[in-house]
Amino acid sequence: MSVSERDKYTGHMTTGHEWNGIKELNTPVPLVLLVFLSAAFLFALGYWILMPAWPLGDTYTKGTLGFDQRQHLAKQIEKNDSEQSRWIDPLVQLDFDAIQGNSQLMAIVDESGPALFEDNCAMCHGSDGDGGRYFPKLNDTSWLWGSDPNVILQTLAVGINSTHPDTRIAIMPGFGAAGVLSAEVIENLVAYVQSISSSHNTSIEQANMAGKEAYSMYCAGCHANDGTGNSVVGAPNLTDDYWVYGGDTTALTATLTHGRKGHMPAWDKRLSLSERRILTLYVLSLNQSVVTGDKP
Ligand code: HEC
Ligand code: HEC
Repeated sequence: MSVSERDKYTGHMTTGHEWNGIKELNTPVPLVLLVFLSAAFLFALGYWILMPAWPLGDTYTKGTLGFDQRQHLAKQIEKNDSEQSRWIDPLVQLDFDAIQGNSQLMAIVDESGPALFEDNCAMCHGSDGDGGRYFPKLNDTSWLWGSDPNVILQTLAVGINSTHPDTRIAIMPGFGAAGVLSAEVIENLVAYVQSISSSHNTSIEQANMAGKEAYSMYCAGCHANDGTGNSVVGAPNLTDDYWVYGGDTTALTATLTHGRKGHMPAWDKRLSLSERRILTLYVLSLNQSVVTGDKP
């Protein structure tokens, strides 16, 4: 049993509690703690009055400042939208020449084009637009449908052999499978096509006369007399060194026998007009000779 007494070193009273000879001093609460507690109390009181704080069933105390997170967010979205429309509007409204001549707009194309292409196009056309077997290269000067940006924009909107009602239609008929041409005529045609392509093999030149006649009769209507193709029907140039389906004898025989019909989806429902226009300019920029203004 202990009683409170005055501590002889500090002059404070003790509380009367003692642990193994150590006595507890009865000192006042430190001032700094009182100051902080009062400040926190005043802050909380002020916050309740000024800001939304207490839930009241299906409403809440609104606070006298009228601050509202929801309105704050709505305003921020509105601000972002108006910043975006500053560059979306010209991308949608200006013609391609004007956009290509505007370095600020082209910077947006360079910035957003690669990600849009990677997400939507690279699985068929390759990351750098390098194409692949059955999918055309987009980074060269050889175009099935032409290099005019408005043509590319239209291709992106409606697709090729797609389910879109206005789809572009590209059909290379299957002359062998349909029984129109015999295997022998197809063999001659394959040799002829190989001989007019830029990597032609002179040793097959002899076989060409028969092939040439059949070509004028069955092929020239779509691929042109000189074999340079026709972008109105998406018929490829056969005289260059580029093949979607392959230029070796086996691949060409398959093309002529069974036909070809590439599928390119329509993007008008999946990408906005501004995104399709960005992609059009991006696809054109993949081709270095177009970047330097040296159009084919
Ligand atoms: C499912 C595969 C696939 C996807 C995805 C795809 N394409 Fe294609 N694309 C094709 C095929 C196949 C063709 C050639 C069709 C034909 O003419 O027979 C083509 C043709 C094109 C052409 C015309 C090329 C020329 O030489 O005229 C352009 C331009 C093009 N694609 C751009 C794009 C862009 C941009 C995207 C992304 C939004 C895209 N494609 C996504 C398969 C695809
Ligand atoms: C009705 C028009 C049409 C006719 C007729 C036609 N073609 Fe085609 N041809 C096309 C189209 C369109 C393509 C592209 C198909 C695709 O990619 O979807 C094509 C593709 C090809 C290809 C593939 C080229 C590549 O890059 O791989 C070859 C080769 C070809 N045609 C040769 C011929 C020959 C030879 C004949 C005559 C026997 C012929 N075509 C008749 C429209 C035609």
